[in-house]
Amino acid sequence: MRAVTWHGKRDVRVDTVPDPSLKEPTDAIIRVTSSGICGSDLHLYEVLGPYLDVGDILGHEPMGIVEEVGSGVTSVAAGDRVVIPFNISCGHCFMCKEGLQSQCETTQNREFDKGGSLFGYTRLYGEVPGAQAEYLRVPQAQFGAIKVPEGPPDDRFVYLSDVLPTAWQAVEYSGVQPGGSLVVLGLGPIGDMCARVALQRGVDKVIGIDVVPERIERTRHFGATTLALDDDDDITETVRDITGGRGPDAVIDAVGMEAHGAPIGKLAHQMTSLLPDSLAAKLMDRAGVDRLSALHLAIELVRRGGTVSIIGVYGGMTDPLPMMTLFDKQITLRMGQANVKRWVDDIMPLLTGAGDPLGVDAFATHHMGLEQAPAAYDAFQRKANGTVKVLLHP
Ligand SMILES: NC(=O)c1ccc[n+]([C@@H]2O[C@H](COP(=O)([O-])OP(=O)(O)OC[C@H]3O[C@@H](n4cnc5c(N)ncnc54)[C@H](O)[C@@H]3O)[C@@H](O)[C@H]2O)c1
Ligand SMILES: [Zn+2]
Ligand SMILES: [Zn+2]
Repeated sequence: MRAVTWHGKRDVRVDTVPDPSLKEPTDAIIRVTSSGICGSDLHLYEVLGPYLDVGDILGHEPMGIVEEVGSGVTSVAAGDRVVIPFNISCGHCFMCKEGLQSQCETTQNREFDKGGSLFGYTRLYGEVPGAQAEYLRVPQAQFGAIKVPEGPPDDRFVYLSDVLPTAWQAVEYSGVQPGGSLVVLGLGPIGDMCARVALQRGVDKVIGIDVVPERIERTRHFGATTLALDDDDDITETVRDITGGRGPDAVIDAVGMEAHGAPIGKLAHQMTSLLPDSLAAKLMDRAGVDRLSALHLAIELVRRGGTVSIIGVYGGMTDPLPMMTLFDKQITLRMGQANVKRWVDDIMPLLTGAGDPLGVDAFATHHMGLEQAPAAYDAFQRKANGTVKVLLHP
């Protein structure tokens, strides 16, 4: 089959690789019809190289048609239309029962002291072959695979794999209430969807902040107030002015470890990419490599007693945090990988009911063939050609 594979920093290719096959009774094989490219893939493209091997298949946002199932899979059958969550979870362990599927104890990566396995996401998370490919082996398919109705285009359901539950969890964890106020930092696919979910759930004031004009416009068009992050402006003052002088009830950080505007972290990033892999991985394990400017801004913006909900991915181990401010302002911090299955039942009515309240049908800015993946990664990283969300169609 053809698959998108990692070859090095900013070097992904489409290679011919062996077709996947059933290995465990709980596996399924799906033929992938749509597969998203995510901001998380950009971390692999840029800074997480030390944790990847040449030839690793990328991708974790798939949907498709079941080709084959193992004897332990009874919830779906060949021919079913399914979406596959980006985290691989069993559904029956302590963590899964708690609704913490991203911490699944059956698929946890104890060797690296990391949570549940993820499709296409480094050695730390199981080195599971990813979903930007013609076919995908789905471990724990008896629980993971989400059956979706025939009829609407893939665009309607594919975001159940990641974007929708991730944004949903970010809003849940922010604790913001109907009538409340929320700042969303970063208006990539995740931040944009956070703003949409919050508006849909009746949050009164949703303020989206980014640096890329088309992204800002997209979220504004959906009904949020938006601001451009400009080094000269005092964004904190502006946000206070529109939130009763106090600051918002909550801030979602949908940027993560590659934020614009933090020179020290950037240097560490470049250092890790110059070192041999084994040393770079050690440096990342033991040292500060995050560019924390978005997180610092979130802590500054949020009102006293408010919540910072971090959904952007961070990776460093010793990056300093402003403990005095966190303590003095009495801030709650929540974060983590999305527990996809936990939120599916809450989200599904918004996809199968009347209309398209979250605007998923027109959410993708680009639909492309698998062979165009290298160009798509490049454009997405550079935010060129209005690229916000790419769906690949193998
Ligand atoms: N926790 C999870 O389960 C989960 C799931 C999916 C994605 N993510 C993470 O969410 C983050 C966003 O993903 P995405 O697909 O939207 O990616 P993206 O890279 O397209 O979006 C990031 C956005 O942040 C903006 N930005 C950069 N620096 C900024 C700053 N200082 N202030 C404000 N905005 C800034 C960028 O211009 C960009 O629009 C990534 O870190 C990704 O890894 C986490
Ligand atoms: Zn993703
Ligand atoms: Zn589990």
